[in-house]
Amino acid sequence: MNAAIRAVVRTAIFYDIEVAGIRRGFEGMINGDIIPMGTKSVSNIIQRGGTILKTGRSEQFRTPEGRKLAYEQLKKNDIDGLVALGGNGTFKGANEFITEYPDIAVIGVPCTIDNDLFGADFTIGYDTAINTVIEAVDKIRETAESHDRLFIVEVMGRDSGMIALRTGMGVGAEAIMVPETKSDINALFDRLERGRKDKTSKIVMVAEGDEPGGAFEIGRAIMERYPHYDTRVSILGHIQRGGKPTCMDRVLASRLGVAAVEAIKDGHTGEMAGLIHNDIVFTPFGQSVKHHSEVNAEFIRIVEMLSL
Ligand code: F6P
Repeated sequence: MNAAIRAVVRTAIFYDIEVAGIRRGFEGMINGDIIPMGTKSVSNIIQRGGTILKTGRSEQFRTPEGRKLAYEQLKKNDIDGLVALGGNGTFKGANEFITEYPDIAVIGVPCTIDNDLFGADFTIGYDTAINTVIEAVDKIRETAESHDRLFIVEVMGRDSGMIALRTGMGVGAEAIMVPETKSDINALFDRLERGRKDKTSKIVMVAEGDEPGGAFEIGRAIMERYPHYDTRVSILGHIQRGGKPTCMDRVLASRLGVAAVEAIKDGHTGEMAGLIHNDIVFTPFGQSVKHHSEVNAEFIRIVEMLSL
């Protein structure tokens, strides 16, 4: 997100537009936590994870009263354009806001490790997160291999299997379980049995939102059915959300930050800037949050074919 903030601030300055940062997202908008930003305020942040502006979930912004307060603060600070960095919740909120207050132009920049927004092949943070997962699971594989163990590794994704899917292929997982497709524990048993008998290690990648109930539930079922497997569960958790952004993420954030400011300058509003097939495309908020990116069935097929 820092790379996107840097791009927004510097693009605005490039076009002689005054620019301010809102701290802690919509909550900061309501509280008037608004700070002027200059070229130097975004120096040396492109390589840092997290966000210098901080973030937070705002219950108040879900209410018309909260959004009214936010609008008043923007007016008070002479703000007439907003670049909203976030995911589903952010764009749903932004969409309601512009319906009520159309004189504020809002353009979204997709920032979520979940990569679950329609209108963006990749969201900012996803590439960094999947590379963190790959590094961690490669290490886990060494224990699995040395001790002949089966590992259930849980990655983030409350509603989205995008992290599990891509990293599952990247680590050569034996199976992947994601919330978008109905997970059948018996199908998992079949897969584990169909594998090579002399295979010494197995990795099952599970997205946290998978409906049988996450890695511990699946681990319990496997331990009951196969008491002879040496089974372990590993939850990667919040390490997936931090760390040095990859070059892919920095470039994506830079391009989208520039595109967002230029779009506001050109009179756009109510849209999310995203990259589709490497081109900048603008998708209305309503569509970007309603039509989640879909799980690519081809990925599952490839994983199953290659992990024999
Ligand atoms: O941004 C969405 C997400 O990454 C989910 O995949 C995950 O469940 C959630 O964030 C974790 O959020 P929190 O830090 O609030 O537990």
